[in-house]
Amino acid sequence: MTDSLPGSLAPARERTGAFDALAKTLPADSVVFADRKVLRLHPKARKALSKVRVVPLAAGEAIKSLGTLERVARSLHDVSRSATFVALGGGTIGDVVGVIAHLHKRGVRLIHVPTTLLAGVDSSIGGKGAVNVGTVKNALGVFHGAAETWLCPEFFETLTEAQRREGRLEAWKMVATLDGGTFRRWSLRTPSDAALLREARGLKEAVVRTDPFERKDVRVVLNFGHTFGHVLESLSGYTLPHGDAVGLGMLCALDVGVATGVTPRGVSEAVEVALPNRPRARTELAKLVSKTKLAKVATLLAADKKSSAKALRMVLLEDLGRWRVANVDASVWQRLWKGPWSGRA
Ligand code: GLY
Repeated sequence: MTDSLPGSLAPARERTGAFDALAKTLPADSVVFADRKVLRLHPKARKALSKVRVVPLAAGEAIKSLGTLERVARSLHDVSRSATFVALGGGTIGDVVGVIAHLHKRGVRLIHVPTTLLAGVDSSIGGKGAVNVGTVKNALGVFHGAAETWLCPEFFETLTEAQRREGRLEAWKMVATLDGGTFRRWSLRTPSDAALLREARGLKEAVVRTDPFERKDVRVVLNFGHTFGHVLESLSGYTLPHGDAVGLGMLCALDVGVATGVTPRGVSEAVEVALPNRPRARTELAKLVSKTKLAKVATLLAADKKSSAKALRMVLLEDLGRWRVANVDASVWQRLWKGPWSGRA
């Protein structure tokens, strides 16, 4: 084992290969928290886990709850602090298992095995774990870095087109905010999902290395699209998947950027055209926005860690690959909410 302190934010050892081969390297006292659906779709993976404890979980925002923490903790009293916990699934499994790994006997070794493109690009990197409380997303969270991340291509092969879109949106977010050159290259020639995964992971890893605990106004860039993305996710009762919510949230951030004079219109248009949520994105946005009262939105924004009710602290684009944090007056987003975001001119 290369890591000393469980949960340390040193870069995880990345291993690529078939899951059944990698699973042979798991210590006998490992506990694998696995998305039930992944186990069903991949009998070979399930078989490879026959010698270790498996805790099947139903993926989705509902699993990120205090109730899950208590239920799981009650079933793990006999598991020692030298155990290795494995998060086998997408972002919601990774998020809740990150918290469990952090809290179990004050912290155990963690391995992330992202099974969605979105988790591969985002939540499996940088050690964030969280659960929701009430309607507030990620209200309680921890930093608990993984010792290893396994990238197993067979899991990505069974993704639906909608799941692929979520991952692609996240990857486009990385290049739009962090790397104008790659954005232009990708715009000219759409990358394969494998290339997109590799390049976007590299960008996120560099950000996390510079600002692991989001204290230096660097990691905050990853929140591009999250301010309104989280609001929309919550307003949908979490039926809108996280990646798609951030995709819509990015449109909001672009509009706010243009309205405040931070984002040149040409940049905003280039990003909107490149995002793989067209052509339905604006209609989806209007559907959620038009039936919601401003007061409800203000409450959700105030509860969000990134904002206060009067002025939103938002990541806005200054150019392709260049961004800054701006304080946005409430009147700006309220005007957009009542107008173009609701589908009214
Ligand atoms: N998903 C945002 C972050 O990892 O900081």
